[in-house]
Amino acid sequence: MSNSLSRLFVRGLTAFAVLCSGLLVAVTPIGAQQATLIANIQGRQTTSLDGNWKAIIDPYESGYYDYRYEPSANGYFKDAKPKSKSDLIEYDFDTSESLKVPGDWNTQTERLLLYEGTIWYKKSFDYARRENTRLFVYFGAANYLADVYLNGEKIGRHEGGFTPFNFEITNLVRDKSNSLIVKVDNRRRRDAVPTLITDWWNYGGLTRQVKLVETPATFIHDYFIQLQKGSRQRVAGWIKLNGEKLNQKITIRIPEARINKSFAADTNGYAEISFEANLTLWSPDNPKLYDVMIETEADRVQDEIGFRTVETKGGDILLNGEPIFLRGVCIHEEAPFRGGRAYSREDALTLLSWAKELGANFVRLAHYPHNEFMLREADRMGIMVWSEIPVYWTIQWENPTTLENAQNQLSEMIARDKNRAAVIIWSMANETPVGEARLAFLKKLIERARSLDSTRMISAAMERHYVDDKTQMIDDPLGEYVDVFGCNEYVGWYDGLPEKADGLTWKMKYQKPLIMTEFGGEAPYGNHGDALTRWTEEYQENVYQHQVNMLKRIPFLRGTCPWILMDFRSPRRPLPGIQDFYNRKGLISDQGQKKKAFYVMQKYYREVAETSVK
Ligand code: GCU
Repeated sequence: MSNSLSRLFVRGLTAFAVLCSGLLVAVTPIGAQQATLIANIQGRQTTSLDGNWKAIIDPYESGYYDYRYEPSANGYFKDAKPKSKSDLIEYDFDTSESLKVPGDWNTQTERLLLYEGTIWYKKSFDYARRENTRLFVYFGAANYLADVYLNGEKIGRHEGGFTPFNFEITNLVRDKSNSLIVKVDNRRRRDAVPTLITDWWNYGGLTRQVKLVETPATFIHDYFIQLQKGSRQRVAGWIKLNGEKLNQKITIRIPEARINKSFAADTNGYAEISFEANLTLWSPDNPKLYDVMIETEADRVQDEIGFRTVETKGGDILLNGEPIFLRGVCIHEEAPFRGGRAYSREDALTLLSWAKELGANFVRLAHYPHNEFMLREADRMGIMVWSEIPVYWTIQWENPTTLENAQNQLSEMIARDKNRAAVIIWSMANETPVGEARLAFLKKLIERARSLDSTRMISAAMERHYVDDKTQMIDDPLGEYVDVFGCNEYVGWYDGLPEKADGLTWKMKYQKPLIMTEFGGEAPYGNHGDALTRWTEEYQENVYQHQVNMLKRIPFLRGTCPWILMDFRSPRRPLPGIQDFYNRKGLISDQGQKKKAFYVMQKYYREVAETSVK
């Protein structure tokens, strides 16, 4: 079928799809397709597309819909230019303003700070593709809904603001002046994940790196290489090839451990791997990473992988078979000092170094998958990680598309970080209301997570309730299905005054380890007063002193994660002169200033590290 005919056919299909779905779901043209995530982009042949992109702010989506609110065939994705002086084209990327990528748009110019809607991004690039190679375009993340076009053709759509995605463009790319256009829409929707209300800023845009990824015709698409569950000697996992020549030999080499093993891929390009190895295990005290090479006839991928086991035993969390206490802190992906969505290695190093300074061996990355630099630096720094998808507060439990969306984000989170030793817990949700539909929804997520990765613990941040005014009970029915229990409490802030913690007893229905996944109070740095004056550092310090004493009295506590390491922007925090649209529960201000409460936690973690469990 000739090109013009196929395009016509596709356009017809597109229209048909829109009509059927009533949603604007464009069918991907023949030339391009969304490929499942390519593992370890950092270990591939890539070309960065970061930098200035042209941008058109489009609050009414005029570049997508016509005046009848029908999808337009001549939208901005066509990147059209007037062909004659009489031609009418009402947009022009090349004379439009620029936005930096990676980066949220909200903090790049004052007038976009509160902007929620569509912005079109354009990047031009030349690419002389070599023989027998394939080409993909990779996005680290785009918040929230991204429609991607190359040279006027739709190559796909991605929903979810915090996980990576890639599209194959081998048959669409041309040597010169390719026009890559992305429509990014960060509008909140009731059926979305997260839904309408969050206590974090809805930073929009191409918030993480964009790359072109060149691979051989048949390449190493994905792999999972970790210690087999419960074993400290056996490495187990799989490797998946993609391309024509699938049933070929795959070699894994770990030179430092004298490992050189070959496996035969089946006709689907899939190979199970399993072998004994004498490895130094990864731990916070010794975050040992090995160079691991995976080789096939035409492809070679190198990765840095740590090997460790993590599991629960009764009420304990065991790392490499030894009980451990998780000295944690929660972190939002807010950039230190400059504000906005964090995205760089430097941002990661700053945030994780502050966590280390606090005495943490664990971080809860809230409430969505953070950028890959956070995970890779946590691997290198020996910081264990709780990674979570934004099933946050009250989403639409009965809506099947909401479930599918949450499952996709979960699969993408696991796909990207499954080879990171630092990640010990996958979290399904935060502060979701007890109920049948919610339980059914979260059980499906847990099933999906366990089917994708049996080597890590599953959890969620849940809530507690009073059985009498002195007793807190943790008995959320979801507790039946998780390995570790996470619980958020704000005794002394939303719940009474700081000393209320002194008289409280904690009970839990389950013989499982508990992590107190949130606690704390707010104070802007430098705001001082007496210990009972809200919003002062002394009040926040007072909250923490009583919290620490209470936490020490909980026998089944195996970890703590104060809310939160650093102040972060939130649309729910307007209090002038105090919050100014920042949640000030940080132990450190957004400008890196440590508040009095920081030292209360630091002292507690020093005690924990020295005395009890490692
Ligand atoms: C909640 C929630 C956080 C929020 C925090 C707060 O528990 O999980 O996202 O920021 O409390 O109120 O500060």
